[in-house]
Amino acid sequence: MERILTRWLDIPNLRDIDVYLAHDGYAAARKAFFDMKPEEIIEEVKNSNLRGRGGAAFPTGMKWSFIPKNSPNPVYVCCNADESEPGTFANRYQLENDPHGIIEGILITCRAVGAHVCYVYMRGEFAIQKQIFDAALAQARAKGIIGPDAMGSGFGVEIYTHRGAGAYICGEETGLLESLEGKRAYPRNRPPFPAIQGAFGCPTVVNNVETLSNVPWIIARGAAWYKSIGPEKSPGIKLFCLSGHVNKPGLYELPMGIPLKDLIYDIGGGILNGRKLKGVIPGGSSFPVFTAEEAVKVNMDFESVRAAGSLMGTAGVMVMNEDTCMVGALRTIAHFYHHESCGQCTPCREGTGWIEKMLIELEAGRGNMADLDRLISVASNMEGNTICVLADSLSMPVKSFVPKYKDEFIEHVRQKRCPFRSHDGASMRAAS
Ligand SMILES: Cc1cc2nc3c(=O)[nH]c(=O)nc-3n(C[C@H](O)[C@H](O)[C@H](O)COP(=O)(O)O)c2cc1C
Ligand code: SF4
Repeated sequence: MERILTRWLDIPNLRDIDVYLAHDGYAAARKAFFDMKPEEIIEEVKNSNLRGRGGAAFPTGMKWSFIPKNSPNPVYVCCNADESEPGTFANRYQLENDPHGIIEGILITCRAVGAHVCYVYMRGEFAIQKQIFDAALAQARAKGIIGPDAMGSGFGVEIYTHRGAGAYICGEETGLLESLEGKRAYPRNRPPFPAIQGAFGCPTVVNNVETLSNVPWIIARGAAWYKSIGPEKSPGIKLFCLSGHVNKPGLYELPMGIPLKDLIYDIGGGILNGRKLKGVIPGGSSFPVFTAEEAVKVNMDFESVRAAGSLMGTAGVMVMNEDTCMVGALRTIAHFYHHESCGQCTPCREGTGWIEKMLIELEAGRGNMADLDRLISVASNMEGNTICVLADSLSMPVKSFVPKYKDEFIEHVRQKRCPFRSHDGASMRAAS
């Protein structure tokens, strides 16, 4: 397959503006600025069926169309580069290797929705990525590609980077906006949605880095080309983050709809050390786990993963082999969400903590059979009862791990210890 989003693997130093320009860089932005009306850009992106890559898979063109026309207030674009979902590392590579591809996507988005300012919100840990991206912005500014008269079009676009301080909740779009405004990143109640009242109370589009990286390609080659890749309802190219117990973990650019089996066994080189597959979380840690039997049957696109009972989220595919203690794996996930809960909503603040505590006890062999039902009950009470979906991001894994690996949970209660550890607590695998 032709490398598109990862063409930086074939083109040395694509992050430099001269190299980028020599490879058709900013041609799509010129087309959008000089040959297309804003509504035509939105229509093209709508027709491409591009769906957001930040986790919620919302149709991008439709999101742009919610921005009021002739707004009396300024319109903003926010590029979400917070990338904190466990198992997810695609944005990082794009920021490091193809910053101009992102800037070009931002320019086109600004033109489409009538925004003159974009904020790129980066996770706190992205120190190097910010340096690289800022250097690319300076190059684009020096060449007049961004600035008060972008590309000589008379339409001004300025782009600013803003670094967070390392909290997962800053990736949730309204938490991001609060943080951008200098406040604690407490997610907002909706409505109003950001398209109506976003940054500084003004209409705002929030899009993920990878979503924006796709935009120049759709404008350059057309919606029909984009839609011809992968399944019709969730088409296009996707950056898959493959991690865990595979021989060749890494970032892979593939068409949507690739069988998960191919991703793990062909592209990923199979399970590490010749062990057997036990489970896969397909979309970052926030979503239901697939058993090995389920995983080998599913195709990796938004519709197919949903139909199979999980969600594709960020396509952070985490593979677990037969030596994994699923109680321990779930406890690790629970620790993350408990730690990252912003604490505004009682079901999330308390529920994530209760779940983590129950799992610590269960893993250590101090749990009882009633804990299994209690886990499901607490998880169910968290779902749909909170301001944002961080609570659901723990509820979904709990409600899949417990029933799908029930025998393992029961063994922890029966043996009064973790069956994956020897009596002195060491990992069985490490001991063998
Ligand atoms: C707790 C939480 C964390 C999130 N973190 C991110 C993130 O790091 N990056 C991101 O793009 N979207 C993240 N999202 C999704 C955003 O709220 C939003 O849907 C996304 O940025 C929209 O962009 P898209 O339409 O291009 O996908 C998160 C959502 C939640 C609930
Ligand atoms: S669900 Fe959790 S993270 Fe989201 S607003 Fe409520 S307490 Fe905060």
